Amino acid sequence: MRQAGRYMSEYMALRKKHSLLEICRIPDLATTVTMQPVNRIEVDAAILFSDLLLPLEPMGIRFDFVAGEGPAIENPIRSAADIDALRRFDPRESLAHVLTAIGQIQRELAGRVPLIGFAGAPFTLASYAIEGGHSNNFAKTKALMYGEPEAWHKLCAFLADLISDYLSAQIDAGVDCVQVFDSWVGALNSRDYREFIMPHTKRIFDSLEGKGVPTIHFGVGTRSILGDIRDAGGDVIGADWRTPIDEAWNVIGPDRGVQGNLDPTLLLGPIERVFAAADDILDRIGGRPGHIFNLGHGILPQTPLSHVQALAHYVHRQSAR
Ligand code: CP3
Repeated sequence: MRQAGRYMSEYMALRKKHSLLEICRIPDLATTVTMQPVNRIEVDAAILFSDLLLPLEPMGIRFDFVAGEGPAIENPIRSAADIDALRRFDPRESLAHVLTAIGQIQRELAGRVPLIGFAGAPFTLASYAIEGGHSNNFAKTKALMYGEPEAWHKLCAFLADLISDYLSAQIDAGVDCVQVFDSWVGALNSRDYREFIMPHTKRIFDSLEGKGVPTIHFGVGTRSILGDIRDAGGDVIGADWRTPIDEAWNVIGPDRGVQGNLDPTLLLGPIERVFAAADDILDRIGGRPGHIFNLGHGILPQTPLSHVQALAHYVHRQSAR
């Protein structure tokens, strides 16, 4: 995850000339950046270079990325009236540049590896829209969720419709797989997840059934709600490093794949420790089909590229055995 980004010098060189949003909006640049890790690391898939927050702008929520701080939203949602004012849009028009990039990337990949498209899930998207940026406790988000459940459900239903449509457009444009990021949903317990989130996220996955591409459902810190996340949908469920992957898979069940789950900060330490942790994951999987080796969350900017390259190579060598 974040397999393209600031830990790669070629990405930083491009970022000197263009903002993150420019790279996301100009198909030639999005294509170039998507290909950077494919050309440098033995990855088994390309990840569309885009951002989870792009759909906010056409619904009327303006934002930018502030260096060193992350996303900053100019007009966050603060009331039921703000939710009523959100604009429904057609991703085929307002996010056409993403769909154009998908076609371009597929031509460049020429079948080398599959391309993964993605979008944010309702909780994670709503949390940015409401908090106005990153949050540690999701106080504003939860205040709206508990305090105005009707407005909350209206917002999440709106987001679920939009995301279903957007992912469907990405599939039509040619992605081979889609991943739904509910990165921050681990902030909820099982009961609240099932009441406030599951119906909406489930609608997204239900809408993608029959579209002919596999789906991945991902969150961080989700140990206590893995079974609920599975029930919401996804052919593959992501697990972070806090749960040993075999335990996570036992909860998720044998009818789904699992993705994970190396701690990305391990890549900042000695490579022997990275290999030992990779061995542990592969031992726990024991050759069972349906596992996607991945980090449990995104690569950090200070990660040495050589460690990422060595890890991908090592996992291929060990799993071929
Ligand atoms: O290679 C890939 O994985 C594709 C690119 C990708 C980006 N964002 C580009 C990006 C993907 C898959 C995302 C998803 C995304 N965006 C998520 C879900 C995944 C996760 O991390 O849990 C979230 C929560 C976002 C929102 C977002 N975008 C944040 C919070 C930030 C700031 C964090 C930071 O590290 O500064 C971003 C910025 C962002 N999106 C970067 C990249 C490569 C940072 C690089 C830059 O500023 O140039």
